[in-house]
Amino acid sequence: MAKKIFRRLRGTQDILPKDQANWSLVNDTFAKLCVDAGYKRIITPIIEDTNLFVRSVGSDSEIVSKEMYTFEDKSGNSLTLRPEGTAPIVRAYLENGLSSHPKPVKLYIVNEPMFRYNRPQAGRYRQFFQIGVEVFGSDNAQTDAQVIALAVRFYQRLNIKFELQINTIGDKYTRKKFKSALTKYFSEVRDKLDETAKMQLSTNPMRLLDSKDKKVIKVCEKAPQILDYLDRDSRNHFEAVLEYLDQLGIEYDLNPKLVRGLDYYNKTVFEFWGSHQGMQNSLGGGGRYDGLVEELGGKPTPAVGFSAGIERILIEIGKTGQRPAVTSPYVFVASLGDEAKKEAFALTEKLLDSGIAALSETNKKNIADQLSKAAKVKADYCLILGKKEILNQTIIVKDMVSGNQETVPIGKIVTTLATRYKSK
Ligand code: HAM
Repeated sequence: MAKKIFRRLRGTQDILPKDQANWSLVNDTFAKLCVDAGYKRIITPIIEDTNLFVRSVGSDSEIVSKEMYTFEDKSGNSLTLRPEGTAPIVRAYLENGLSSHPKPVKLYIVNEPMFRYNRPQAGRYRQFFQIGVEVFGSDNAQTDAQVIALAVRFYQRLNIKFELQINTIGDKYTRKKFKSALTKYFSEVRDKLDETAKMQLSTNPMRLLDSKDKKVIKVCEKAPQILDYLDRDSRNHFEAVLEYLDQLGIEYDLNPKLVRGLDYYNKTVFEFWGSHQGMQNSLGGGGRYDGLVEELGGKPTPAVGFSAGIERILIEIGKTGQRPAVTSPYVFVASLGDEAKKEAFALTEKLLDSGIAALSETNKKNIADQLSKAAKVKADYCLILGKKEILNQTIIVKDMVSGNQETVPIGKIVTTLATRYKSK
């Protein structure tokens, strides 16, 4: 009897060869923009002390209370598969002395897996991947605008449509006053709330504001607004952020109901919403977290950051029908006859040695099959070697776009292609 085939776990994905071009496009595009803007890459472990997330993301947050993959290791320590990247980066920033580097310290992540135990659906996974940035040591509103501008540039490079939603949630006194106003308001209309909303009312009433439940949304229409409780510093900061965004020509929606689900935020919070409606609409999000470094044992250090889920971006890319950046081999080497095949094999390796993307399939006998493979992999040039070419020590170069052909001495082919490759 055939043995059972194992299946991947619910909410996880295999990123197959066919998906790699777009996957790399997302990571490479983001990494390039980060490096251009002076960010340095950081990689932190996938597992951390559970308390790191309890102390930062917050014990009442949905992520910590419901969604963490937490387990005891063999020594009885409570460990958690990271549900997000900011807290681990703050830990690493403090532990490795990055806090003594000249400010601002600008860090980025690409292709980093995160884990949240939630109900899987389109665009929502239990293991998902993030890209993101964190900036430490600047309380300047320009820094908020720079982080947002980087994210905007990223979506624009990928031709992704988005709406930037922005709000401020003030300092901790603002939020304290605001929470008690919300508790008072919602308690008076308690019978209109569902069970989840009732629970949130006692733990984190601000979360009711971004509820997806239609009845709760209706109730929220008349709820108090945070802008009426804002401290002066947060108000000035927010106005400055908006002015900088205006200066950069970045459009936004002021959304007083945007509160975000992680406890570490203060002042600016923002999200990028995609074109699809519904719960999994957020293409990325972030904000300021000026108290977190201190909360995790460091000196008070203002900070701001952003991150985005790669899978959701790929769904959007799929909609635009956009072709990925060049990932096809530049050259396909086709050959006919034993001697030509041997030469084709060596030439392909020589091209690769010179940094030219090249492919040959010498197991295919028929030249027509090889040419159709060259077209299928979208090679720019097909080199053709037959008996006659071997005899004359030449090679045919076929431009796969124009269809034009020329014959070149075989000894010159690498330098000829290298010049064209560089100018590509
Ligand atoms: P977040 O809003 O929890 O923020 O997640 C950021 C992005 O990760 C979301 O906008 C979404 O694109 C993606 N994402 C979240 N959960 C899932 C999931 N289950 N499946 C697929 N994609 C998902 C943070 O994680 C903060 N650390 C952002 C930040 C950085 N704030 C300051 N610095």
